[in-house]
Amino acid sequence: MCGIVGYIGNKEAYPILIKGLHRLEYRGYDSAGVALISEDGDLKIYKSRGKVAELERIMQSKDTGGHVGIAHTRWATHGEPNDINAHPHYSESRNLAIIHNGIIENYALLKEALQANGYTFKSDTDSEVIVQLIEYIQNTNRCSLPEAVRRALRELVGAYAIAIIEKGNKTRIIAARKSSPLVVGIGQGEFFLASDATPIVEHTDKVVYLNNDEIADISLDHGLRIFDIDNNESDIDIKQLQLSISELEKGGYPHFMLKEIFEQPKTITDAIRGRVNVEMTNVVLSGVIDNKEIFINAKRIIIVACGTSWHAGLIGEYLIEDMCRIPVEVEYASEFRYRNPVINKGDIVIAISQSGETADTLAAVELAKSKGAFIFGICNVVGSSIARATDSGAYIHVGPEIGVASTKAFTGQVTVLMMLALTLGHHKGTISQEFYLDKIKHLCQLSEQIADILQLDNQIADLAKIFTYARNFLYLGRGYNYPAALEGALKLKEISYIHAEGYPIAEMKHGPIALIDSEMPTVVIATTDKIYEKTISNIQEIKARGGKIIAIINPDDNIVRKIADYIIEIPRTCEHLSPVLASVPLQLLAYYIAVYKGRDVDRPRNLAKSVTVE
Ligand code: G6P
Repeated sequence: MCGIVGYIGNKEAYPILIKGLHRLEYRGYDSAGVALISEDGDLKIYKSRGKVAELERIMQSKDTGGHVGIAHTRWATHGEPNDINAHPHYSESRNLAIIHNGIIENYALLKEALQANGYTFKSDTDSEVIVQLIEYIQNTNRCSLPEAVRRALRELVGAYAIAIIEKGNKTRIIAARKSSPLVVGIGQGEFFLASDATPIVEHTDKVVYLNNDEIADISLDHGLRIFDIDNNESDIDIKQLQLSISELEKGGYPHFMLKEIFEQPKTITDAIRGRVNVEMTNVVLSGVIDNKEIFINAKRIIIVACGTSWHAGLIGEYLIEDMCRIPVEVEYASEFRYRNPVINKGDIVIAISQSGETADTLAAVELAKSKGAFIFGICNVVGSSIARATDSGAYIHVGPEIGVASTKAFTGQVTVLMMLALTLGHHKGTISQEFYLDKIKHLCQLSEQIADILQLDNQIADLAKIFTYARNFLYLGRGYNYPAALEGALKLKEISYIHAEGYPIAEMKHGPIALIDSEMPTVVIATTDKIYEKTISNIQEIKARGGKIIAIINPDDNIVRKIADYIIEIPRTCEHLSPVLASVPLQLLAYYIAVYKGRDVDRPRNLAKSVTVE
């Protein structure tokens, strides 16, 4: 949610900043802007509504010189997405420029106080308040920029990752964070700053992740120094990045989303690698084994997540209850954090988050931690805030996911949850050896089975063409495939803007059946599992009302293939892993419908990939 990037060093800042903004565009693309300090020390801001490409177009006729700069790509919260509300923002005297990711909750009060002191505001944003406050403190206390920033931060309530540069100062950037992420890259006589490591990786593999309430004083004179809000200097903990540039590029695909869908045979293998032995007789999730007693004695598990990760959490509930006989509750992190939940000492909270930065999930983790729960994280981004806030965890290892609609992260999350349930069930003795070995075998087949499903690419693209007219879609599934239906509907909604609802198929007659007519396509996940017969009856009910059925079936099906209007045949696996396979054709269906509708698949309107605001 908003991407920020900064550079200071001996190179031209602008090309580094603009490339960095492109990398961070998944975080928001309502507007973009850049502030540069020119060779003669002047501070210039250029900004524009729209995507980063629009800013680039404007910059063609501007002076882009300078070796210090900050840049921003916005996901609007306060103030509509126009040129004025775009970041960076100047201070009153135009001596300072700021970029901000986050929300300042007490901005209205601060703004009033500053206005009373003669400060005028150009934008409707909460962010402009920060830079004005810093300048006010600088002027009234005659203190240095880092000191003014530190004092200003003490007045702020809310979340921020900020970077500030000062007119005439070609050697310094000040940055700080609280609840929104910020990474400093350390090069040879140069420094980089970004919301995540993706803009940094092609310049250096040495990074420092700022902690909450830390201020980075980045100077070409004294290097990087980090202070907390009470002015205590912190040690610099340099981490080595494990990220390759090729993972951040489209690699010949028209969209990141399609690339990421097609990466799944590999990402599933990566998620399993080192966790299942080559003989396929053992699965070990070290985060579980290292805390075996805690897991075995857990009275309850609460899964917290948002969006697609929440759908993976629902599957996690089915898996853990089935295999480990521990009661599981799945909560939207945003609800959990504000509803005074009962959390006891023996409880385990599993936080699932691709980015590891979702503000609500992070807050839910902090809440559960404060009440004494053991926190286990399932994240993708290594070193992310949630990964660092948990007691233990398991990375899904699917590589950077850049398309805003989550695909490979979802299948990776379910795969890790399956390994968690198997590891725990095995050690707890709640599953038989035969069951355990059978499931490991299925787990190891997933990758090849997904590769087979991807062969249906053209067939699914043709099917998508037929349905671009639809205004509504229903997605139905049962058991483990119910969350897959929810996820299929979410994918379509997110990127095609067609209204879609996911439902447990048997619940359909309690409401959604009223929507069925010949205009309304229904996607049914009808794999040949133990509830197959029931699913057939539900399909008949839809057909009887003139509905159009697209059915996901298995090769051994010989009933639904005759009733459905269209079928997509996927390989058979155990019911536990069925949602992994069923979700792949649904990703492709959503993708092609969105492409045929001319949507911006990787950057759908109003969405952002990393939701670092509440
Ligand atoms: C946003 C994204 C979704 C994602 C959700 C949770 O809404 O658009 O794709 O599922 O956030 O994100 P997380 O990074 O916590 O999994």
